[in-house]
Amino acid sequence: MKVWTIANQKGGVGKTTTVVTLAGVLVKQGKRVLVIDTDPHASLGYYLGVDPEEVPGSLYDLFEAHDQLTLDKITCQIVPTSVEHLDLLPATMALATVDRKLGHVDGMGLVLKRILALIESNYDYVLVDCPPVLGVLMVNALACCEHIIIPVQTEFLALKGLNRMVKTMVLMGRSQNTRYQYTIVPTMFDKRTKASPQALKELQENYENTLWQNVIPVDTKFRDASLAHLPASHYVSNSRGVKAYSDLLTYLNSKSVGNG
Ligand SMILES: Nc1ncnc2c1ncn2[C@@H]1O[C@H](COP(=O)(O)OP(=O)(O)OP(=O)(O)O)[C@@H](O)[C@H]1O
Ligand SMILES: [Mg+2]
Repeated sequence: MKVWTIANQKGGVGKTTTVVTLAGVLVKQGKRVLVIDTDPHASLGYYLGVDPEEVPGSLYDLFEAHDQLTLDKITCQIVPTSVEHLDLLPATMALATVDRKLGHVDGMGLVLKRILALIESNYDYVLVDCPPVLGVLMVNALACCEHIIIPVQTEFLALKGLNRMVKTMVLMGRSQNTRYQYTIVPTMFDKRTKASPQALKELQENYENTLWQNVIPVDTKFRDASLAHLPASHYVSNSRGVKAYSDLLTYLNSKSVGNG
């Protein structure tokens, strides 16, 4: 099972779109995929047509039951989506209280890692979506994965948010005696603008070794696909955006070996 986390403290950079589109491409390749929503706003669930008000449970219940986790308890919170072989561990607004209620409890940063250890054989890939906020949820999301994908919108000031995110990862990695492996992914690239090529150039100059050497183009099909509650791969399989995410997937697979 390979576990990848999609994170950036900056909002609106394409995190949720990256999770859904990579998941769509993966299931089309016959993989069993679980996506996990750690964002209390539950955008990933809404995107996939799962109403957080109507789910029987959520990731929050598992945080509450952190010291009595069982396979049964975990699978009870996971819901299927309208896409075959794509499951969701949903978020609810209650997740917003995890920091305050449980943030001080010992071992709270490794709950998601322990959850994934119990469902290891059920999925080929797990993709974790993050809120644009540093807190217990992002700590869990970073600690449970083998590779971090950082989408960065190619626009003015893109580097500012990215520097912050990379600093956060280095600090958190140090506290866990590890060095996170990550890939920076330029998103919403629009070559007709001045800002996109300029931002890309800055990324290339500053993050040469960790930058994916390609871009996710701006593509209105992503918004259309989200309105249809479908991964773009299942909405218009041959769009430029889907092609770019397929290339990204090939690259990520070459970087991240997984554990079988
Ligand atoms: N490559 C793209 N081309 C055009 N629109 C895009 C692209 N990627 C994402 N979008 C659109 O940009 C908006 C923000 O994307 P998304 O929700 O994926 O960002 P996010 O980082 O998850 O945001 P948040 O931090 O609020 O969770 C959405 O409306 C989405 O449809
Ligand atoms: Mg999001």
